[in-house]
Amino acid sequence: MKGHTPCTTHSLLSVIGHTPLVELTRSSPKEGVRIFAKLEGNNPTGSIKDRVARALVEDAVSDGRLKEGGTIVEASSGNTGIAVAMVARQMGFDAQIVLPQGIVPTICDALNILGVQVHRCESYAGMKGAIDMADELAARLGGVCLQQFRSETNVSVHYETTGREIACSLERVDAFVAGIGTGGTVTGVGRRLRETNPDVRVVGVEPQMGERLQGLKSIEDGFAPPLLDFDLLSRRLMVDAATSIRTARRLAQVEGIVAGMSAGATFHAALREAERMERGNIVVMFSDGGWKYLPVRPWDSAVAGDSELDEIHWW
Ligand SMILES: Cc1ncc(COP(=O)(O)O)c(C=O)c1O
Repeated sequence: MKGHTPCTTHSLLSVIGHTPLVELTRSSPKEGVRIFAKLEGNNPTGSIKDRVARALVEDAVSDGRLKEGGTIVEASSGNTGIAVAMVARQMGFDAQIVLPQGIVPTICDALNILGVQVHRCESYAGMKGAIDMADELAARLGGVCLQQFRSETNVSVHYETTGREIACSLERVDAFVAGIGTGGTVTGVGRRLRETNPDVRVVGVEPQMGERLQGLKSIEDGFAPPLLDFDLLSRRLMVDAATSIRTARRLAQVEGIVAGMSAGATFHAALREAERMERGNIVVMFSDGGWKYLPVRPWDSAVAGDSELDEIHWW
């Protein structure tokens, strides 16, 4: 056809990562301090976990644990489950996801539309119960658990991709702010950035004790993620759920970025970090998009101080 230029096509798995790093020009409290956000919501399923799911599945294939027609079993309360389902579909594997109770309903809808089988564990069992159930199910089905909380690949994928992308985009990073869930992001990216600037401040963000916040875990609650390199952290900051949700709303209203609740927490921490600096560049992770949370209207509950916020896992 005249005037038609063939366009380049890419597989879905190859477009994971390479997410935008955008400057939050309307939010920096000081002229000399610039804040840049890594928009992980731009991944195919809308979260940073696409990177991890692809790497873990590729690992399992290359070391022979996962063979043609095999089944992946993973415990997740959201982003990882959706990412695993997408990667499984792309690579032709079956996937079964174990969910704890109290999951954002749209996450279940996403898993349903991706056609994976969903199992739910007892309400009292929590995330630990979901992990145990996934282990049992995998043993019964001869399936493979990817174990994002234990696999070093969850760190190296961020060192090799997320961290490298940030280091290549900015001449200098003075502070890096990320949420702590498995600890993979903050450890992998933090290591990479410390190599380029030994003085970079690495700030880990966790929910307030006893609170639930999408993707993040409170170390004070007694859970120390095995992958988290505590020596790497310059500072740990706790942010409460209502502040995180309100800050996520402010992010949308000031910058036009609709990100998830953990981005509200990391953005709040980045603003606090900015107050301590005279000049320099801050990079903050926005680990997922906020669209899937809209039907639950967390913003309204946060303003009303609604106790129902505690009933849902915000990740
Ligand atoms: C939305 C969100 N933010 C932050 C994190 C934390 O990332 P990591 O597990 O790499 O510590 C997660 C992890 O699940 C997440 O889903």
